Amino acid sequence: MTDITSQTEAALAAIAAAASLDALEAERLETLGKKGWVSLALKTLGSMTPEERTAAAPAIQSARASIAEALDAKKAALEAAALEEQLARETVDLTLPAVAAPKGSVHPVSQVMDELAEIFADLGFAVATGPEIEDDWHNFTALNMDETHPARAMHDTFYFPDKTTEGKDVLLRTHTSPVQVRTMLVAAQTSPGGAPVRIIAPGRVYRSDSDATHTPMFHQIEGLVIDRDIHLGHLKWTLETFLKAFFERDDIVLRLRPSYFPFTEPSVEVDVGYANENGRRVVGGSGDAQGHAWMELLGSGMVNARVLEMGGFDPGQWQGFAFGVGVDRLAMLKYGMNDLRAFFDGDPRWLAHYGFSPFDQPTLSAGVGARA
Ligand code: DAH
Repeated sequence: MTDITSQTEAALAAIAAAASLDALEAERLETLGKKGWVSLALKTLGSMTPEERTAAAPAIQSARASIAEALDAKKAALEAAALEEQLARETVDLTLPAVAAPKGSVHPVSQVMDELAEIFADLGFAVATGPEIEDDWHNFTALNMDETHPARAMHDTFYFPDKTTEGKDVLLRTHTSPVQVRTMLVAAQTSPGGAPVRIIAPGRVYRSDSDATHTPMFHQIEGLVIDRDIHLGHLKWTLETFLKAFFERDDIVLRLRPSYFPFTEPSVEVDVGYANENGRRVVGGSGDAQGHAWMELLGSGMVNARVLEMGGFDPGQWQGFAFGVGVDRLAMLKYGMNDLRAFFDGDPRWLAHYGFSPFDQPTLSAGVGARA
């Protein structure tokens, strides 16, 4: 009896002193474990006479109960202490300055393409795309440049060594104009004889050319409108409206000069008035006024009847205008960059300086509608 009492007291003391969950578990095994002394003592009850059992059982059972209770309580206390300790150890100091995460930026060309898509969406233009690997029919022939046309030689075309299965030359498109052809063919297919078309086609184009203002890959945006009774006035208004919205100023002055492109008739080259401000060309103001000059900006014209025909449109019923602009050049003019090659060097310092945050306010202060 005294034996069990002192053993129990010793066990309770050990439990109270256990400094860790491991130490507590060791104590549990020694007492209530299969081979613990309490379990073994309980087993001896079975071989006792009823009288002996009645005498011995209460002490053993109360030892078991008090030890089990002490084990549970100590376990809960140790676990709570461990949690407290972990919480204290893992505290985050919110007052510490955060480590700046490296941030990407939107390339000026992407930014300008987005701006253009936004402006032309306001004017009801959809965005059309075409393949960068083209065949010579879409890139040249359907745009009224047959095999012998001298304009083909001016494009410094990158050709692939193999031809298409129909024997056409395969090339990297030299301009976005083939998207005109592809768009017309699809429109004419859905609606034989033609249907109104109003698209812009931004994308990469390729020419074997490289200096401060030319890179072998650059970006253009093509515009095409086909409808009944379309004339040069529509073209001029559209270009003026687009350039005012893009440069975010109302004093954009255009000059249309007669020119030649095989795919337009008549063809016009469009100049925009600009001023030199601190060695930088700033678009705006009349080219006729003092201190201003004209700069060539883009090519355009009324879609050549032969191009309409090759696109599946009846030129007796449909007219259209088209234009093509260099996107990189628009970006350089608007955001004041002077070396085109830097656009494609991928230098993070250049991108950090000229790139745009995707989270900033849109740079266009107003859409086309706000200026109309
Ligand atoms: N495709 C021409 C070029 O890359 C630019 C151009 C001129 C496009 C007149 C047009 C246009 O749509 O009408 O040089």
